[in-house]
Amino acid sequence: MKTVKIGVLGFGTVGAGVVEGILKNSGLIARRTGFLPVIGKIADLDIKTDRGVNVDAALLTTNALTVIDDPEIDIIVELIGGIKPAREFVLRALKNGKPVVTANKALLAEAGRELFEASVGSGAGLYFEASVGGGIPVLRALRDGLVGNQIKSIYGILNGTCNYILTRMEREGLDFDTVLADAQKLGYAETPPDLDIDGIDTAHKAVVLASLAYGAPVPMEAFTIEGIRGLSHREIEYAAELGYRIKLLAVIRQVNGEVEMRVEPSFVPKKHLLASVNDAFNAVFIEGDVVGSTLYYGRGAGRLPTASAVIGDIMEAAAGGGGRSAWLLQNKSLPVCKAEDISIRCYLRLSLKDQPDVIAKVAHVLGKNQISIASIMQKEQNAGEQVPVVILTHKALEKNFASAMAEIERLDVVDGKPVRLAIEDFE
Ligand code: HSE
Repeated sequence: MKTVKIGVLGFGTVGAGVVEGILKNSGLIARRTGFLPVIGKIADLDIKTDRGVNVDAALLTTNALTVIDDPEIDIIVELIGGIKPAREFVLRALKNGKPVVTANKALLAEAGRELFEASVGSGAGLYFEASVGGGIPVLRALRDGLVGNQIKSIYGILNGTCNYILTRMEREGLDFDTVLADAQKLGYAETPPDLDIDGIDTAHKAVVLASLAYGAPVPMEAFTIEGIRGLSHREIEYAAELGYRIKLLAVIRQVNGEVEMRVEPSFVPKKHLLASVNDAFNAVFIEGDVVGSTLYYGRGAGRLPTASAVIGDIMEAAAGGGGRSAWLLQNKSLPVCKAEDISIRCYLRLSLKDQPDVIAKVAHVLGKNQISIASIMQKEQNAGEQVPVVILTHKALEKNFASAMAEIERLDVVDGKPVRLAIEDFE
């Protein structure tokens, strides 16, 4: 039986989970794969904090380079997160011909091409299943099971923290900050949590999915990214009343030879499977031209689910083969549809003066901008009070919505900033 020595960089939540998983199941893994995984060294700036796993103190170091450059270490597992110093460490390992397993979606999204080129250059594989969807083996599904398909669309609930917050806000009527604090306690959220709640973490994962689906890294600047910060209860309540649930959705679609991408809180019809994905769970709905619709579901955040994906990659790296980095470099770049040219349906909530001709004024602006109303709801208020009006539209171009909303906000009968959210019908 061959022993595979693993060097872990980053002994935080996931790093400790990987060590725990390997200590627990190494015998089982060895019987299944023929390789016995052994923790060779662990590097972290903080080697004093108790991580809740039993490791020999002699394995711990504060110097990551002594792990990367150790000829006894077969595989590097990068769990530091972020760009600096993770990028340098991963590049160094790859250039030295050492396979790297990473969960670092930010690094892949921001510096993917450079890393994949280094991997192809040296022949050392770069494995990154844990970067998207935590414990869900969705990248393997895209790469292996769906290899015979053109990918028509991918819809993902990719951030456990946001999904947990939205679920509890809806279910328990709690406010945003209270639930965010709980998500942090449970170890779901990034540090700081801005990456989660502003949609950046979801966007990083969407870039990885799109890169695999279409064979080239997609720049982050190429698409709309909005998170759930500031989302009001009123939207959650109106969505429920109208037969929808709000989810932070990554949408990746191939339309007329271009890739359409966006990350934003979106109305999802309650009858769609993704509307039932709750708490910290993630799900990815993929449509291929041969297979049709497929759904992948599981725990998208947390210590052991992410560790499960990392261990899967370690064992793939141990078996060799050099990974699939060339797959990510099939195309020089992708034709990405400009955000303003994407056609979507929207939910609008306006606070209007309750007086004659007000709806006509709003309808006029929408009509002028080629936006057609699908439904409109106004509930009676006491005389003299502002009245909330909720409009669901048919599909229209993003740029038309932007210009209509700016115009509506300037109307003297409109109070405050109108709210606009996307509606996803999965067509
Ligand atoms: N902060 C991330 C989430 C963890 O909440 O989904 C996994 O990437």
